[in-house]
Amino acid sequence: MTTATRGRAHIGVLFAAATALTTALVAPTTSVAASSAAAPDHSTKTTYGVSKAAVAAAPQYAPTDDFTATWKRADALKVHADPTTTNPRVDENFPVMNDQVWVWDTWPLTDLQTRPITYQGWKVIFSLTAPRNIFFGDRHWQARIGFFYSKTGTVGDWKYGGHLFPEGYSLGSREWAGSAVLTGDNTVNAFYTASGKDNGGINNTDFEQRLAMTTGQIHADDRSVWFTGFRNHRIIAEPEGTMYRTMEQTASGGIIYAFRDPYVFQDPADGKVYALFEGNTAGVAGDYVCQPRDLGTLPPGQKDVPADAKNFTGNIGLMEATNAAMTQWRLLPPVLSANCVNQQTERPHVVFRDGSYYLFTISHTFTYAPGLTGPDGVYGFVGPSLRSDYKPMNGSALVLGNPADAPLQQYSHNVMPNLMVQSFIDTVPTSSGGVRYGGTLARTIQLQIDGANSYVDRELAYGYVPALAAR
Ligand code: FRU
Repeated sequence: MTTATRGRAHIGVLFAAATALTTALVAPTTSVAASSAAAPDHSTKTTYGVSKAAVAAAPQYAPTDDFTATWKRADALKVHADPTTTNPRVDENFPVMNDQVWVWDTWPLTDLQTRPITYQGWKVIFSLTAPRNIFFGDRHWQARIGFFYSKTGTVGDWKYGGHLFPEGYSLGSREWAGSAVLTGDNTVNAFYTASGKDNGGINNTDFEQRLAMTTGQIHADDRSVWFTGFRNHRIIAEPEGTMYRTMEQTASGGIIYAFRDPYVFQDPADGKVYALFEGNTAGVAGDYVCQPRDLGTLPPGQKDVPADAKNFTGNIGLMEATNAAMTQWRLLPPVLSANCVNQQTERPHVVFRDGSYYLFTISHTFTYAPGLTGPDGVYGFVGPSLRSDYKPMNGSALVLGNPADAPLQQYSHNVMPNLMVQSFIDTVPTSSGGVRYGGTLARTIQLQIDGANSYVDRELAYGYVPALAAR
């Protein structure tokens, strides 16, 4: 044994001991502790797959068609506090998964069918990270994609592997959310938001956003996971001003303007590869005129829409890969818009289930248009095909929101094919009257879905991301 390998073995022992300790400390009080430690294989329980018979019933379109479903003001008026759509309070004594970095938006390594996968027995997640010694609220402007790996997939056991990309290769001035798919034996296509101008440094007034991708390779042994490659980065989409608003057309700053968060998957209906992303309806900000299909049937007293509602123009974009390497893409019209309803439809993603497409997106209280409100959380829509006349789940679209007494406790939910919802802990009120910043993964929540209705079922372990397929 060389000195180096001896050192490694020693660290391994320490790590195993530390892991056992932290796992014990963070073990949930419910029986889920046992199941998460045993890393159950849920692959037989997913209902992935679209039944053609069930798809036939409602208005649906080809992915390339010019039809955009709407989240209507009349739907959003139905948002209300409801225990079946409210996340339990986050315990102020939550465990922190890494003391070096803030962790927020997180996504698992998946296959093209959106299933989180294990690579040689390791579960892998990617997170936006920033040094934990900067103010939590400043993290967006220094974001880098980091990765974690674990055999069990829970907070006490996620080992931090560092930045995903080698230093100095990614585009933009920071890396914002995306997705990562494993293709072939060990090829990882990583998609992300190139935020800010190339090499722009730390600058919270530069809100340029472009969609980017790069290809690398995953490697693993019995101790760790690492990546090579990711040296050739390319921009795969920019807003063009007719379907998606450009930065020049926008009046808003910061992260309110959006062309970001690519989420790549294969549509089971046609086998083609697409990406969802967050955009804004094209046109000069403020020029938009609210349409009847943005409003729906409004009750007396609500028919006069506040004038400023026109400034709220979030949408969920779609693009299609035009080559097998996923380096060439073409923009398609948005699949859903929230015009006059909400300015932000962040991190859109999809779950294929029982012949339906469940389209999820995260949004904030502060981005609702005047006259509307709702909690920070995840919102959902269901339709019979990728481009279809999506209907809001639960009538309003609210699927899982923060409780009224902890409105910022968690965010950036990712609904996985088994209806487990992973998110990060944001700002938690403490019993002493202050707040505790999270920057770590929250307890995973198990949802149940019955048609267009969803129900919070139970809380699972912190940061629990089980695999649904293996390589
Ligand atoms: C959601 C989000 C994403 C974005 C990232 C930036 O939490 O706003 O839309 O990619 O955070 O930090």
